[in-house]
Amino acid sequence: MRISVIGCGYLGAVHAVSMAKLGHDVIGIDVDEYKIAELQDGRAPFFEPGLEDLLEEVLETGRLRFTTSMAEAHGSKVHFVCVGTPQLKGEYAANLSYVDAAFSELLPFLSAGDVAVGKSTVPVGTAERLSALITAACPTATLAWNPEFLREGHAVKDTLTPDRFVYGVPAGPAGLSAQNSLDEVYAVPLSSGTPRLVVDYATSELVKSAANSFLATKISFINAMAEVCDASGADVTALADAIGLDDRIGRKFLHAGVGFGGGCLPKDIRSFMARAGELGADQALTFLKEVDSINMRRRTKVVELTRELCSGALLGKNVTVLGAAFKPSSDDVRDSPALSVAAQLQLQGATVTVTDPEAIENARRRFPELNYETNTTKAIAGADVILLVTEWPEYVDLDPVKTAELVADLKILDGRNALSPTAWRQAGWTYRGMGRP
Ligand code: UGA
Repeated sequence: MRISVIGCGYLGAVHAVSMAKLGHDVIGIDVDEYKIAELQDGRAPFFEPGLEDLLEEVLETGRLRFTTSMAEAHGSKVHFVCVGTPQLKGEYAANLSYVDAAFSELLPFLSAGDVAVGKSTVPVGTAERLSALITAACPTATLAWNPEFLREGHAVKDTLTPDRFVYGVPAGPAGLSAQNSLDEVYAVPLSSGTPRLVVDYATSELVKSAANSFLATKISFINAMAEVCDASGADVTALADAIGLDDRIGRKFLHAGVGFGGGCLPKDIRSFMARAGELGADQALTFLKEVDSINMRRRTKVVELTRELCSGALLGKNVTVLGAAFKPSSDDVRDSPALSVAAQLQLQGATVTVTDPEAIENARRRFPELNYETNTTKAIAGADVILLVTEWPEYVDLDPVKTAELVADLKILDGRNALSPTAWRQAGWTYRGMGRP
């Protein structure tokens, strides 16, 4: 099937490559000429394990091309819109200008029977509004909403073999036809038994908001438990192991630490609250405000613990921050807890050196005032205190004995509870975790 993918950022680039891998003829479209040139040359414009290899593989088949011209969407049967919905400056609500622009630019190139498919995370009600625009421009074209659940760092696998597909379609024959087109697009994963749920527009939009809110809530729940553990001398890691063994709870997303960041969970819970407010259902989501507050307190907690480790004064202390990305296997620093902590420490007088295997260039653009060092050994040399805030395997695997030879003082704050307290203490370190005695 000929498919267009509009917006070649994280979601779109991975989607375009994956659709070509599934055997479709794909045209990737973006307004950013640099991004398009990189992708067309077989280079991923961001770090995502496995993406570049797959990009090269499918470019060689001739089934994938990239362009800045929306006119090339003409002739595709299915058009996926994959543009971003960042948080509006100074507001909780999502900025829908990219989604609106992508759909309105696509309208002139729609043909009879085409399906325009929204994949972006949008406030409930957006699809209904866009559907009216599409029908007005091309009465026989249909809008479907097909939210994406991929995680950065696992994006290719999550796209090719997702946990489920959700289709939001209108009632009646147009909806059925859109559903059939999507079934054809996803024929390969569907044939291996991937569940597929067909729902109305509003439900499909809410599934995504609800899923990310639930994940954020789970993380903040365990971080709230970490606060209680700190107050009572208990160990949140053992607590998470114990409650996680209950199938109904599960151990995933119960890792206490510096909290969640990235381009999705923080802004999605905020835009969900904003939308619920517009709908008069704000009371239903006031708990998300608490989820957000608990999460933000974690960053402050890391700064306070670092100060404690520095005997009460950060001024003039050399602090090494291990990790800049919002999570491992990513070079994404959007709302990264690691950088937020690093910047606060620097503002309070510490000399902060940040290291990361992939995210330094992005971090430098965001926070040019911090010191950056690509080499872990050099970054650690002379540190008064080390902070592990992004649990890249190379940091989790650091040898406490060898690391001790590099630093000025043997103090480590494990902001992700990813290290063995016993091993580090045995090597002479003062070890502090998050909600661990
Ligand atoms: C998230 C969702 O997990 C995806 O399903 C969704 O598709 C995506 O947002 C999106 O909306 O596009 P992602 O932002 O890639 O994916 O990252 P996650 O793996 O969810 O991690 C988010 C943050 O939570 C990271 O900072 C991570 O370190 C933190 N986290 C995660 C914890 O602090 N504790 C945990 O137990 C798990």
